[in-house]
Amino acid sequence: MEKLIIDGGVKLSGELEVYSAKNCVLALLAASVLTEKNVVIHNCPKITDVLNMIKILESLGSVVIWHGDTIVIDSSNISRFEIPSNYAKEIRSSLFLMGSLLSRFKKTKAAFPGGCDIGIRPIDLHLKGFRALNVTVKEEGGHIICNGQHARGGRIHLDFPSVGATENIMLAAILLKGKTTITNAAKEPEVVALQDFLNAMGAKVKGAGTDQIEIDGVKKLGAVEFTPIPDRIVAGTYLIAGAITHGELLIKNCCPKHLEALTDKLKNAVSKIAVFEKDIYIKADGDLISVPLTETQPYPGFPTDLQAQTLALQTVSKGSGIIVENIFETRYKHVAELTKMGANIVVKDKIALVRGVKNLHGAEVTAHDLRGGAALVLAGLCAVGRTEISDIKHIDRGYLNFDMALRSVGAKIERI
Ligand code: UD1
Repeated sequence: MEKLIIDGGVKLSGELEVYSAKNCVLALLAASVLTEKNVVIHNCPKITDVLNMIKILESLGSVVIWHGDTIVIDSSNISRFEIPSNYAKEIRSSLFLMGSLLSRFKKTKAAFPGGCDIGIRPIDLHLKGFRALNVTVKEEGGHIICNGQHARGGRIHLDFPSVGATENIMLAAILLKGKTTITNAAKEPEVVALQDFLNAMGAKVKGAGTDQIEIDGVKKLGAVEFTPIPDRIVAGTYLIAGAITHGELLIKNCCPKHLEALTDKLKNAVSKIAVFEKDIYIKADGDLISVPLTETQPYPGFPTDLQAQTLALQTVSKGSGIIVENIFETRYKHVAELTKMGANIVVKDKIALVRGVKNLHGAEVTAHDLRGGAALVLAGLCAVGRTEISDIKHIDRGYLNFDMALRSVGAKIERI
């Protein structure tokens, strides 16, 4: 089992480039089975979640070829409609394939999906959406079995603007007869990118980025070549790496607009943030200042996927700050690990009170989920002494060569 070993206390300095967003690529991979023509996706990170999603596509009968970091997918000969249980349990986004398979083949079956253990994560909204499209959904022996023989467009109101449910319902509706309307839809940039990708294939989707999405069903989709949006969570993690090490970094090839919720907070926490068209500069000499309140919300609010990293930053910032995690119920597993490093944090239900300490110290800690694991790396970068992080498979799900990237800007981090 691999570990990350970090000798903390080095100010990071230099440039880091961001690659395509994991959550965008996963949705596009799921959408790729909607067409029998070739799908080309550029600038794809070879992270575990993407590789596992590709294994699922191959198990269905798609042919997937990598050319450098471009993926070419041919789904003209799909022969299976069931998502294998072993992969479904590994990766929650396997669920999106149900929408695509339903739309194109009118049937699908899957085990209940896995993913990061950060909360209850039900899939009721996805299934409510399918049912509103006149799909028969049965839940049997840990499996979901869908029959869409009589499926057609419909109206769906989401009780919560779930990203996954919005994307899954969009995918399911693309090739159905009639019009589908999703209200209280998620507005995340990845939903907008999915709309752009689908429309580039010939779909008729509008409204993504607002709370109402409308889909006019089409009979067939064509080929597509597409570059996904940059990963706003990776960009945000890099920015916090610059801040927490009192460093100076230029984060290149990101979309600053997607990061406004974070950069707005960092403005008051570090000495300088400058936003350019595709780059963000951060400099953090002097004291880091606590942000009084950070509440996670659906986009354009503060992303839950940056909560753990922000909490790590707060542990070494001057003053006290409150973090409220509104999206997932049990997304504070990093707190116990940060406490081993000397952090002063009290958690009650969805609220964490973080009192800044002068220094963290190195310790042996465990990554319990993807973003919580990234938070431990950030803490290790600024801690006095050596930090050893185990179970880094969680981090590898979403960060491409994280240790190499950090090393390139001066971090003393090794994978053993
Ligand atoms: C997606 C992202 C994940 C991010 C999350 C919130 C992907 C692959 N993953 O996850 O990185 O942390 O959005 O921004 O894009 N819920 C229900 N019923 C459902 C579906 C969701 O109650 O049927 C609840 C969830 O339990 C959670 C909230 O809605 O409390 C938000 O979840 P959702 O937006 O669906 O997150 P994911 O799509 O799983």
